[in-house]
Amino acid sequence: MAEDQSNESSSKARQSQKIHPIAIANDKTDDEFIRDYLKPSPEWATWLRPLTQKPYSLEFLSSHELSKDDFKACFDIIELTSGADYKSSSVGWHPAMKKKEMKSPDLRYILVKDDTGTVKGFTSLMPTFENHEPVLYCYEVHLTPDLQGSGLGKHLMAQLIAIAENIPSTKKVMLTCFTSNANGLKFYEKLGFTKDEFSPRDRTLRGGKVVKPDYVILSRGTAHGGADGDWN
Ligand SMILES: CC(C)(COP(=O)(O)OP(=O)(O)OC[C@H]1O[C@@H](n2cnc3c(N)ncnc32)[C@H](O)[C@@H]1OP(=O)(O)O)[C@@H](O)C(=O)NCCC(=O)NCCS
Repeated sequence: MAEDQSNESSSKARQSQKIHPIAIANDKTDDEFIRDYLKPSPEWATWLRPLTQKPYSLEFLSSHELSKDDFKACFDIIELTSGADYKSSSVGWHPAMKKKEMKSPDLRYILVKDDTGTVKGFTSLMPTFENHEPVLYCYEVHLTPDLQGSGLGKHLMAQLIAIAENIPSTKKVMLTCFTSNANGLKFYEKLGFTKDEFSPRDRTLRGGKVVKPDYVILSRGTAHGGADGDWN
């Protein structure tokens, strides 16, 4: 009995010493991350626009690997597509803060470039914890106006969903969207995202006035719901 208990407690100790899959994911090089979580087909690096068959290249890289030009291109696309939403929100538009966030160490990017090497869209993602739950957070997904409605947004989100499915323990893909971004909300709804339980709620002020939050947190559960034999 005593031996059983000691075996049990040492097994618990071993368990608690195990490195969490989210930490393991964030420790991986880009090549390892792609191999283990994206599990790409040989054609992964090319996306053909359905209507025109025009090829675009996809690149996966960490925030610190972004060239100055690519970083600026991503920042400019955010400002172009969502600057107005930021400006009209309680958050406001703060370029220095946004640039700092875009350089977060564990953030990884999928860049989409045309045949001249110009960034035409991108998504950024991070395996992390939200409310103590392991999640894959989608920080951004933005396309230049000429590529909006092309199916590329869905293609990029499919990469994030695949990554979330392949990182053990990950419960959901999560993101934040301004409530003013009606098109973005419809896009996410179409992809099966729903309001997350931790999305901010309406606040009723003392006078009875209801203040609605200007952003919503959306999520889409993984097929395995975060369950993983090696971890749980
Ligand atoms: C939001 C965005 C990434 C979506 O990418 P996209 O390439 O335009 O969207 P897709 O063509 O892949 O659309 C995927 C599906 O969503 C649907 N959808 C997209 N926008 C929609 C809209 N406004 N209303 C209804 N359905 C919409 C499409 O019809 C498509 O449905 P299908 O799977 O049945 O064909 C892109 O439009 C964009 O960059 N917008 C500006 C930046 C932005 O708002 N980013 C989100 C910040 S939170």
